Amino acid sequence: MKLIDTPLTVGGRTLRNRVVFQPMEGCDGTREGAPDELTERRYLRFAEGGAGLIWFEATAVVSEGRANPRQMYLHEGTVGAFRALLDQVREKAVGTCGFAPLIVAQLTHSGRFSKPDGVPAPLVAYRNPLWEKGKEEQPYVVVNDEYCASLPEKFARAALLAEEAGFDGVDVKCCHGYLVNEFLSAKERPGKYGGSLENRTRLYFDCIDAAKEAVGDRLLVTTRLNGCDGFPYPYGFGVNEANEIDLAETKIILNELKNRGIELVDLTIGNPYLIPHVNRPWKFGPEDGSVSMKRIHDVTKELKAAAPELKFVMSGLTYPGASALDEANDALEAGAADLAGFGRMTFAYPAFYRDWRETGGLSPKKVCLACGKCSELMRAGTVAGCPVRDSEVYLPYYKEYVNR
Ligand SMILES: Cc1cc2nc3c(=O)[nH]c(=O)nc-3n(C[C@H](O)[C@H](O)[C@H](O)COP(=O)(O)O)c2cc1C
Repeated sequence: MKLIDTPLTVGGRTLRNRVVFQPMEGCDGTREGAPDELTERRYLRFAEGGAGLIWFEATAVVSEGRANPRQMYLHEGTVGAFRALLDQVREKAVGTCGFAPLIVAQLTHSGRFSKPDGVPAPLVAYRNPLWEKGKEEQPYVVVNDEYCASLPEKFARAALLAEEAGFDGVDVKCCHGYLVNEFLSAKERPGKYGGSLENRTRLYFDCIDAAKEAVGDRLLVTTRLNGCDGFPYPYGFGVNEANEIDLAETKIILNELKNRGIELVDLTIGNPYLIPHVNRPWKFGPEDGSVSMKRIHDVTKELKAAAPELKFVMSGLTYPGASALDEANDALEAGAADLAGFGRMTFAYPAFYRDWRETGGLSPKKVCLACGKCSELMRAGTVAGCPVRDSEVYLPYYKEYVNR
């Protein structure tokens, strides 16, 4: 048996295997933030995939922090719809694979990328000319300390709602430049949320503590964390003055997470907006996708070695296509991480893992091509999916919104 097929226990819960379906926004919820028809379709396809863990997509904790008008938003008015979806997902998974995966809700505030009504309404930790180049006209609001202090309670409330909805865990999202993550690099922000590492991590840890206090051990509290942002100094997190990746602060954070009772970290790097190839190794980036994959691998491996007691999910594993699962298994065998996370592959080929287990390989005709079209759909402000492999549903959207 391959390592990727073996169980793993984390936070007292046992995953049936080490395959994780990473959070993948479909931008297809209702205006109120509940799962809609396409959301249901996506997750029912995921349910048949046989993964040990489905990491549910970015779900807003406040309305002003939604990244688009159809982003998931967990509140009293939508919790019932989440519950109904999760019940269906579990039923489908048990029927198809004989077990239900663990399901984690990713709780987020989109910060700089907030667009609750479809137009940019950025709420930022600090003004950053690197980000804002060409977007100077946007109505930036630097969130004040009072606003920051109000957020942990919002994450706690969302964690309680996630429990009511039937999620097994909650992720306090701290990656890809969204609000909580942006604070990690707020070196020049004055006051209690900027400057020292203690201040820059205050919002993050307060949100984690609040979520943990709210749900105790009833839910697995976890986090998707950027090991480094991939921006040149002085912007971003995890970079030194020589513009090299420097994980010293990330290691301190991991130690703190451990002290706070966190056992599982979904490790990612980079930024999907400015440097998408770092985050999503792809065909048409400024470097070969295998170089981008190696960066993610090396960062994750270094962090796993620094915090071996934590369980790590590795990201960015879709790019090799037909050999993706073999390469992911190799990474686990090499001790670089404990779990293998797949993003774009789940859109293109949700049954990829089941097929691989059953037949020993992946169909080259079904695998993700790392062509970036799912991201293009998202950027165009419509629903996201795979217009190549799931063309019946998503090609019409691609033709209407991207390839006009
Ligand atoms: C269309 C799209 C939506 C995504 N949505 C999320 C999300 O909701 N939360 C998140 O943390 N990452 C999100 N990601 C990033 C993926 O989880 C993953 O890290 C990335 O695609 C790289 O992994 P891969 O090579 O397996 O695709 C998204 C990526 C894409 C392409």
